[in-house]
Amino acid sequence: MTILVAGATGATGRLLVEQLLNHRHTVKVIVRSPDRLPANLKNHDRLIVIHANILDLSEADMARHLNGCDAVASCLGHTISLNGMFGPPRRLVTDATRLLCNGIYANKPEKPVKFVLMNTTANKNRDLHEPLSILERVVFALVRLLLPPQADNEHAANYLRVTVGQEDRLIEWVVVRPDTLINDDKVTGYEVYASPARSPIFNAGSTSRINVAHFMTDLITSDNSWKRWRGQMPVIYNR
Ligand SMILES: NC(=O)c1ccc[n+]([C@@H]2O[C@H](COP(=O)([O-])OP(=O)(O)OC[C@H]3O[C@@H](n4cnc5c(N)ncnc54)[C@H](OP(=O)(O)O)[C@@H]3O)[C@@H](O)[C@H]2O)c1
Repeated sequence: MTILVAGATGATGRLLVEQLLNHRHTVKVIVRSPDRLPANLKNHDRLIVIHANILDLSEADMARHLNGCDAVASCLGHTISLNGMFGPPRRLVTDATRLLCNGIYANKPEKPVKFVLMNTTANKNRDLHEPLSILERVVFALVRLLLPPQADNEHAANYLRVTVGQEDRLIEWVVVRPDTLINDDKVTGYEVYASPARSPIFNAGSTSRINVAHFMTDLITSDNSWKRWRGQMPVIYNR
């Protein structure tokens, strides 16, 4: 398979790229700073590096880069800094998701392209009944108002859930929702649920980035996993 990864220089993205390469797939990455790719990936013979700021690409450029890709994964996220959280681009994840989807549509692939979006358990799947307490609703409303990345994550997932929807002939999608991200150097046991099993605010769990990368790889490469989770927003926790 050929997979295009956005956010490949990030803490999760680089682990995803590594696992996809270990599965002997070809990986294309769009990165604004190729120097930030780890040394073990940089010169890999199945890694194709596109040096660009993703939101600067035209739809035609994106379609060209996506040509021949079987799957797309986004691990994009706002940098944890004042400028990253509050400065432009405020809709980094949403705009990149839309651009990637429009690139796929422009190519009219013969087979649907898989799209796996890294998101957050702080985002509800509004296709399911995921009730929140009054206090949780208040906290989420404040977070949404005060922290632009939260609204961005919600809009990005909504783009796939509502605009692309369940019946699209060219794009199939899964939105992966980890809880608090932690680092680990090896894949460990993890559990995946259709909806949060704990409160992301008052009883947060943890998810190691390498497990997120493992689950995203599994979705992309295993038809059984894809069939199980297609069109859903699975929540992943470390066991
Ligand atoms: N923190 C948590 O506990 C948590 C929990 C659940 C979900 N999440 C979600 O998971 C996402 C990924 O997490 P992570 O820790 O792997 O992220 P990360 O290490 O911060 O990586 C973010 C990626 O996005 C890219 N990026 C940031 N701003 C950009 C811009 N303006 N233009 C182009 N690319 C840009 C970065 O590129 P550069 O390397 O060039 O900066 C990097 O590749 C988070 O952002 C969040 O939405 C986080």
